[in-house]
Amino acid sequence: MASRTEKPLSEVIEQRRDTPSFDGKPIPDADLKKILEAGLNMPSGFNLQPWRFVVVRTPELRRKLRAACFNQANVEEASVVIVACGDKDGWRSDMEEMIRMGQERGMTENYAESVRVIIPEIMASHPNLTAWLNRHVMIAFTAMMLMAETLGYDTASTEGFEADKVCLVLNLPISYEVVSLLGIGRLKGPDKYNGGRFSMQRTVFDGEYGKPMKL
Ligand SMILES: Cc1cc2nc3c(=O)[nH]c(=O)nc-3n(C[C@H](O)[C@H](O)[C@H](O)COP(=O)(O)O)c2cc1C
Repeated sequence: MASRTEKPLSEVIEQRRDTPSFDGKPIPDADLKKILEAGLNMPSGFNLQPWRFVVVRTPELRRKLRAACFNQANVEEASVVIVACGDKDGWRSDMEEMIRMGQERGMTENYAESVRVIIPEIMASHPNLTAWLNRHVMIAFTAMMLMAETLGYDTASTEGFEADKVCLVLNLPISYEVVSLLGIGRLKGPDKYNGGRFSMQRTVFDGEYGKPMKL
């Protein structure tokens, strides 16, 4: 594919808005691949990569997804919807593959032996697997969103879905949790207003709780 100018990340962060309506025109596979790879490149605890993504492109599936998302139109209108999920049981089969890849790239035998013990212990007694999945999946999700915007696409995040319905539409295994949906395409009509963000003094503390950060 011919190279083109990508938007600088600082511009994307400043200008990105959640997209109310898409034109639905298809996205080239090369761009979709780049977007997906951005997510898959993200870090995760022990490099376990518990994220899973279902890429929905056909109009029929997008229509069914819309019905599982309280009839939100932008889910059907997007060129692609990436359904971001986490797999609670993925580590069971992924751990050895993670170790194999690591050892090809410099992981020591000592480290490999220790994580073979530690990971099953941690996962078996984990107090909140949903939170564990969410924190990893949303890192990958955000990277995909920012990469899509960098490439000049518009994006929409969707947490308004009925998980059981999404699981049915996509035939997801029982160990999967649906975390969020990412619609990608081109904006149709006017963009959403910028709702603004809280000031740093309100949400960032300087060294101790209650001391507002001033920069
Ligand atoms: C994880 C996530 C889920 C969201 N889910 C929905 C949704 O289901 N429906 C919707 O209209 N907007 C949804 N939004 C969009 C937010 O309302 C929007 O991002 C927020 O109002 C800030 O606006 P901006 O993204 O244009 O800056 C979601 C955003 C995020 C990050």
